[in-house]
Parts: sequence; C-alpha cells; structure tokens
Amino acid sequence: MTDIAATHAIDADDCNFSGNAHIGDIVEQRYSRRQALVGGMSAAATAIFGGSLLAACGSDNEAPTVTAGANVSTAAGRMVTLTGSAMDDSDVPTASWAQISGPAVTLIGTGATVRFIAPAVAASTPLGFRFTAMDSKNKTASADSVVTVAPAELGFTAVAKSLADRVTVPTGYSVTVLYALGDPLAAGVPAFANNGSDTNYAQRAGDHHDALYYFGLAATGTARDTNSNTRGLLVMNHENISQRYLHPNGPTTTGGVRPEAEALKEIEAHGVAVVEVTRAANDGAWSYVQAGALNRRITPLTTMTINGPARGNAQMRTRFSTDGTSKRGTINNCANGFTAWGTYLTCEENYAGYFRRSATDNAARTARQVVSLNRNGLTQGASGSYGWSTVTPADSSNTSFARWNASVNPAAPADGTGDFRNEPNHFGWVVEIDPYDATSVPRTRTALGRFAHEGAWPANFVAGRRPVYYLGDDSRGEYIYKFVSATPWDAADANAANRLAIGDKYLDDGTLYVARFDATGAGSWLPLTFGTGPLTAANTTYAFADQADVLINARLAGDVLGATKMDRPEWGAVNPRTGEVYFTLTNNNAAGRTLANADAANPRVYNDPKGAAAAAQRGNPNGHIIRFREAGDNPEATSFMWDIYAFGAGADLDAANVNLSALDATNDFSSPDGLWFARPTGVSGQEKPLLWIQTDDGAYTDVTNCMMLAAIPGSVGDGGARSITISDGTTSRTQGTFVGRAPGVQMKRFLVGPVEAEITGIDSTPDGRTIFVNIQHPGEETTTGFPTTFPSNWPASQAAANATGRPRSATIVITKDDGGVVGL
Ligand code: FEO
Ligand code: CA
Ligand code: CA
Repeated sequence: MTDIAATHAIDADDCNFSGNAHIGDIVEQRYSRRQALVGGMSAAATAIFGGSLLAACGSDNEAPTVTAGANVSTAAGRMVTLTGSAMDDSDVPTASWAQISGPAVTLIGTGATVRFIAPAVAASTPLGFRFTAMDSKNKTASADSVVTVAPAELGFTAVAKSLADRVTVPTGYSVTVLYALGDPLAAGVPAFANNGSDTNYAQRAGDHHDALYYFGLAATGTARDTNSNTRGLLVMNHENISQRYLHPNGPTTTGGVRPEAEALKEIEAHGVAVVEVTRAANDGAWSYVQAGALNRRITPLTTMTINGPARGNAQMRTRFSTDGTSKRGTINNCANGFTAWGTYLTCEENYAGYFRRSATDNAARTARQVVSLNRNGLTQGASGSYGWSTVTPADSSNTSFARWNASVNPAAPADGTGDFRNEPNHFGWVVEIDPYDATSVPRTRTALGRFAHEGAWPANFVAGRRPVYYLGDDSRGEYIYKFVSATPWDAADANAANRLAIGDKYLDDGTLYVARFDATGAGSWLPLTFGTGPLTAANTTYAFADQADVLINARLAGDVLGATKMDRPEWGAVNPRTGEVYFTLTNNNAAGRTLANADAANPRVYNDPKGAAAAAQRGNPNGHIIRFREAGDNPEATSFMWDIYAFGAGADLDAANVNLSALDATNDFSSPDGLWFARPTGVSGQEKPLLWIQTDDGAYTDVTNCMMLAAIPGSVGDGGARSITISDGTTSRTQGTFVGRAPGVQMKRFLVGPVEAEITGIDSTPDGRTIFVNIQHPGEETTTGFPTTFPSNWPASQAAANATGRPRSATIVITKDDGGVVGL
C-alpha cells in the first residue's frame, strides 16, 4: 500500500482472509473524525484498537495507518496538544510530529503526543503539522492536521471581588509562595521564626516587597542568560516595613529614644534583594535558593557612588561623603526599571519621610535651601519615620543613625561636610545595580532627576536611536517625566562585560523632560535644561545655579516650566508593540483635586461613598490610567497625543460622570498602581500585548481587597472627547476630557489579594508562562489584638484558612495548570 492518507482504510486482507468485515472498515468508521486535542485533554481515539488486534496478524507487509486528529482552532498563547495515533499490521510503530507550515513553534515532547504554545498572530493563521509513523521495516505513513490560531484574547474567567485572607486566581491557575519576609539569603542563616525575634535582615528577605525583575541565569549559576525560563535572579525592592511585626511586642520608643538593635533591624529590612530562583525539572515547582552565589541584600547602609551631573555638587557634600561623590544606601525603593545591558534600576520614592528636621532648622538655612526642602517634603519640625536618628549607638563613631537627622549642626562647617544637612539630597534618585556581580558598587544616576521616583520604564533601545526612560513622581499633584539619553544605542553594548560602565555611557548624560497635558488632547515635553526658559539664576521662586541644581530640584523646575500636576503618577508601562506609554494616576483626595484645578488629564471630581456609613471620599479617590502616543511614534519626540485608557470606579458609580469606562463586576477597580506590559519575548507581549494592572487601594476596600487585572488595550484615540459634570458636593461644573474605548471584556480581574495588602511588582520568565507578583504589607492597618492576633495571617492562610501567625510580605508564583501563557 502506498496511500498514506489518514482516512485510508487498512486492507486487512493482508492478514485476514476470514471473509468477516474488513478491519479496515471498522477502523475507517471509528476514525472517521480526525482528532486533535486542545488544552490538555487526553486522547480518546488511540485506545480503541491499540496495536494488539493488528499486531496479531503475524506478517509485516503494510505501512502503518495513522490519524493526526481533527483540525482545530485556538488562540495565541494557549497550550495545544497534538495527539496522533498509528496502527500497524505487525508491530508498534515509531511516531513523531513535525511542523510543516505557519509560524514556527517549538514542539514540547516526543512521540504520538506533543504540545506547543500557540504563537502570537496578528490575524487568524493556520499552522500545519504532520504526524508520521514508521514500522520496524521502515515503512512509513503520515497524516496532517491544521491548527488555526486566532489573535490573543483573555483566556480566563474573571475572579470575583473578595475580602478573604488569601490570594485568589482564576480556575486553571495555581499560586505558590516563593520568597517571604525574613527568608534566609545565605548559608547558615537560621530559618525565620516570624515572632519578632529574628535579626540580621542584611542576610534575610526584607519587608514590603515591591517592584521586581527576573534576570535569567545560565547553568553556571552566575552568568547571564536572557533566555532562561527555569533559573534566574529575582531582583526586588523592599520598600518599607510593617514595623510592629519586626519586634516581639512592636517597636520600643521609651523616652522617645529607639534602641540601636531595633533601628538596625528596621533599616536593614529596607532596600533591594537579589535572590536566585529555580524551577524544578521534575514537577515544575519554583523555589528560591538560600545559598545562591549571587544572593545579595543592598540596604540603606550599602555604599554606592553618585554619578552624573550632581556628582560632587556642593549640595551633595555630607560628613559621610565630604566630596559629594558617594552615598550610603538606598531607601523606600518603590517601582523599578531595567536596562538592555542586564542591570536593574531601583527608584527611591518617599525618602523624605525618614528625615528629622529640628523645629528651628529653617533659620539655620539659606532661603534657597528652605524652598528646596519644602518643595521636596522635608518639612521643618518633622521627627523622621521610625525615629532612627534618636539612636545613641554603642560605637560613637557610627553615624548611620545620626544621618537621619538633616538638621544643621551650627558647630559644623557651612559646606555641609561636618553634618547631615545635605543627606536628603542623596535620595530621590534612580540607582543602577548589576545583579550579576555581587561585589559591584551600585551607581546613582542623577541625570534622571530627583523626586519621589516611582519607577523608570525604558523605550527606544534601537540601534542609532537614543534610549528613553519614562519616569513618574508619586505624590499628589506631581509630574510625569522622561529622560532621553545623549548617546545613541549600540546593540553591541547589550552584552558588554562591564555593565555599569555601559550605564555610565547611556545614563549619565541626556535631557530630562517634564510633561504638560493640554486640554486639546495634545501634550508637550518640556526640557529641564539649565539656562533655557526660566531655568536660570534670574528665576524668582528659586534661583537655579547650574544643571545639577536643576536635577536636584526637578520639582521646582517642573513648576516653573508649567508641567501638569497629576493625580499621583505611579507606574508606567510601554506597550512593546506600539510604543504607547501608559501611566497609572492612582488617586487624589479632596484637597488635591478640586473644581478649581481639575483639568482634561485629571478630569474627575466626585464622591465615592465608603462603607455602610457611606463616608464621603471626594476628589478622585479611584484614580485613572492615562496613556500617550509620542509624535511620529518616536520616544525622543517633544510632543504627544493622549487620552485616558481607563477610569477606576466601582461598577455602581454614576456611569455618566464617574464610571466613565463602564466597568462592571468583572473588572471594576480602584487606585491603580502597578502597571506592566508582558515581556515581548513571550506570546503575551507580542501582537496584542497583555497589560497588567495592580491596585493599592483604600477607597474600595469596603467591598474588596486589592487586586490585579489583565487587559488587552486598544490605542490612543480609540474613544473620543467627553464632557462630564464634576462636583465637590457643594458646587458643580462641566469638564472636558478624552476617554478611551471602554475596555469591556478586554479587561478582567485576574487576582484578588489577602487582607490589607497591596498588589505590586510583576514580571515573568521570558516565555510568559511563569509570572512573579508581590504581595505587600498584608495586615498592615489593624492594630487591635497585636501581638496575640493579627488582621491577616497570610501567607500561612493561603494553605490553611485557620492559619495563625504574623503576616509577611511575599513574592508569589502564578502558573497556568496546562503550562500555557499566563492570562491567555
Ligand atoms: Fe511606593 Fe508610589 O508607591
Ligand atoms: Ca507494517
Ligand atoms: Ca507603587
């Protein structure tokens, strides 16, 4: 027989002369419907005959007979299973699959059943596969099957809003806890007791896990491998602390003085961690490696250099760094960024709150210094979070506590080299870390400006183009910025050995811009360049001295340039397909967003009544997500068009003026914070990239814990102009804005977190099949019952509803049970 078509019947006469119905007829009947199996279902047809019936025939004259399954349809990112079946007249043939047409995929497994991830496609696309069987005489037969792949769509059922003390994800997904507060990060460090007795956080996981990034590791365990989906370094920020859980009975403040050991523990629980993580070959489970060769904690005590225009500036001189070229540590590390050369960018957000300033410090300052301090939230009379500067250390030469007192010491030199009056100028920056070298000294990139840095989101790493970083300043009424490098990108630099030297090349010289959003739907980038416009010594509100001064006082520069005051810029995200840039504007209160200052880009003033008492929450308590498209789709452009992608709101709020994105029970949210487009190395970051939205909410928490949503957004301008009525409860007026197309089913709630936790930080393996998410500060608010009972017992409560014990911030791993791309 030479016909190898799948539907061809075996001519059973070759071994059966009985005159009974041909076996081939039966086979024809049973296999008349070709079968391919999608989504992990097991084969049904192959078992009907097995090989035994035909194998009994005793001769071996025929090629195998094969079926390749039915033609099926699926969508990008889904796991597809191909199951063929083969029969032979004498033996069990060898079976294999090969792709014969369409976009190339990688087949997982061998033999009659293989799997693959449906690739990203822009339009419905057929992929052809050939199933071949060969018997022991090398006679072969083949049959083909076609899998038609549709463009990506959200592939899960939305999870309901929840107040439960656990992480909930959709059916078909699994959650495990990977790396939690206090986990030991070096050999010999004791397991975490989680009762307040633990010490040495310089070798343990810090608190308040925030942004994270996955850096692939090669099999050597130390070399970079950007393609590894099974071994990597998670680099993450430990933004802050839930202070009372770090000590047996909460913090000691006897006489207004903090004990040295407690303060040291709290300081070391801040900063950044580099943690090796691996995926087990046998069961696919992820774990962190306690003794990973590159594990590292970077804390507020880790020495780092100051680079860029502010290096050595007079305002950077301190007792610790008399020449203003180095600084001690990093703090309140919130969101992050990464570079094309394999380094991590950590961003210093609310540093100002940690500093003490005496009630009379202004009198000891110049007028310019007072303007600068006030504008950056370093108010006179502030005691400083956690009171670290009150510590009298056992070693009197140890200044690591005194540094948190930024008051002028009248006995010290006026240039700042004898006290810590300039210490706050060492924070509010972006710091670059090389995770692949545990001994490397981090570098502070002052060209990216100083403010409450949320994160740094890259764009334009294209040969010959100048790399860009989008930046947000997370305080009420602050600005969105971007940095455009002075140096065009050379792709060879992506693999340089000295990564921080490449950082010097691209991140120490460039132009910082601040955004103005106009009522027309257009916008402009305004350069923070000393000597241009009002950025001169002649400026009346603050006499700028030089470029370093402009960068140290970026907020003041933004003010005089007329930048648009936003509703707290949190994370940004760049659509890897279109280059459009999204920013969360998490919320604003009644004092911050008023009828007087509402504008097209921050248009809503309304009330979201909370709880049974319907307590008023005015201003913009639910936040929104703005997006913009650079002119010419060029990230270096100085103008753009914008609209508002989505407005946070409970589904029950006024559809005409508040719930402008028509959110419903499947996707209503409040206070968007984390924002991330799936990596373009995986299907979810290609043709129709997935956007992930995380919340840090206090307004809708009477109804639900914080959450994470997935969306497939459209593009700037897919909606239109809208006029809404805004009200402060007394007066109302109309306000124009630009509203993107309502997301509808293209946005769904994917996850709800545990009690009193924020969802923040997200990244994936390069293939998008494992995502890492941080759960920050569960149980941070309610103090009653401490230290006996706790408002949250997560992550212990993830496994057992009746769990006890102190809550811990932690990194979780989410995978799809069938191995497909998360979210699709
Ligand atoms: Fe640290 Fe802006 O959140
Ligand atoms: Ca045969
Ligand atoms: Ca944040």
